[in-house]
Amino acid sequence: MTAIPEAKQPGAPEPRLIDLHPAAEPFLDAVLDGLSQDQKAIPSKFFYDRRGSELFDQITRLDEYYPTRTEKALLKRFGPEIAERVGAGAQLVEFGAGSADKVRLLLAALRDLSAYVAIDISRDFLFAEAVELQRAYPDLPVIAICADYTRRLDLPDTGHSRRVGLFPGSTIGNFSRPEAMRFLSTVRRMLEGGAFMVGVDLKKPTDLLNAAYNDAAGVTAAFNLNLLKRANRELGADFDLAGFEHLAFYNETEGQIEMHLRSLKPQQVTIAGRAFGFAQGETIHTEISSKYAVDEFQELARAAGFNPAGVWVDDARLFSIHFLDSA
Ligand code: AVI
Repeated sequence: MTAIPEAKQPGAPEPRLIDLHPAAEPFLDAVLDGLSQDQKAIPSKFFYDRRGSELFDQITRLDEYYPTRTEKALLKRFGPEIAERVGAGAQLVEFGAGSADKVRLLLAALRDLSAYVAIDISRDFLFAEAVELQRAYPDLPVIAICADYTRRLDLPDTGHSRRVGLFPGSTIGNFSRPEAMRFLSTVRRMLEGGAFMVGVDLKKPTDLLNAAYNDAAGVTAAFNLNLLKRANRELGADFDLAGFEHLAFYNETEGQIEMHLRSLKPQQVTIAGRAFGFAQGETIHTEISSKYAVDEFQELARAAGFNPAGVWVDDARLFSIHFLDSA
């Protein structure tokens, strides 16, 4: 656990910016380690360099990619109900608060928060967004904490009635089910008896899922292949970018989309003096995006010590926002 330094100017109209200097896992170690496994893999968190973040932003606006617009519509539509559940005087804690996009939709409905706390590992973006948000809501204490939100940390005391966590975007889907369970348990301890709101992508017909990760304009393919570009640029790797293709499919047994980069030919890649051979058709596994039925996610939440207290779902049953109380 990491202690948070005291505020220098409590009550000042600027946001409070706290840097816990999270240690980023080195990209090189992750790539060397991942490519040494039988099923080659590179963790999906490395998608998000500057170009990868731009591409992801484009993905969220694609026709085929329904999650972002559906979740936003749910937050707008059910804002008043959500506000009632959150209750008066709560501290709202957003985990992985890249852009303040979604919380803005909620803040329109939540009027009497004790504070908004945003936790993210991308320092510059987080702090810039906190300044913007503070400008838009001068009466709301805004606290931005640069930290790895998957690790337990002491949250600040803001004289709140209780804490309510927010984890939108179906980012929980990028964890395996055991990782998701561990994350939920960690968050429950951090919230100290509070509640947690989680955006979760739902199971649905396979063709809709496959289309969302294989868009016609090829943006998701560019997002996936950008990992290899990043490895070439940052690690001096020699991936032949035309020698790999994007592959994404719904694995019904596991209940998850899998993204891979598939080698189009037998080839060898060298990274930091180490050679990695690829057979034709061999893949690098780059991402999972788990999909949950409502009761399946509720069961996972119960196993992590939460008590499912409500769920909002759109009419087409594409996406869900769960409200979990501490059990
Ligand atoms: C960030 N995350 C929730 C996205 C998802 O749908 O799993 C990442 C993504 N990968 C391909 N398209 C979008």
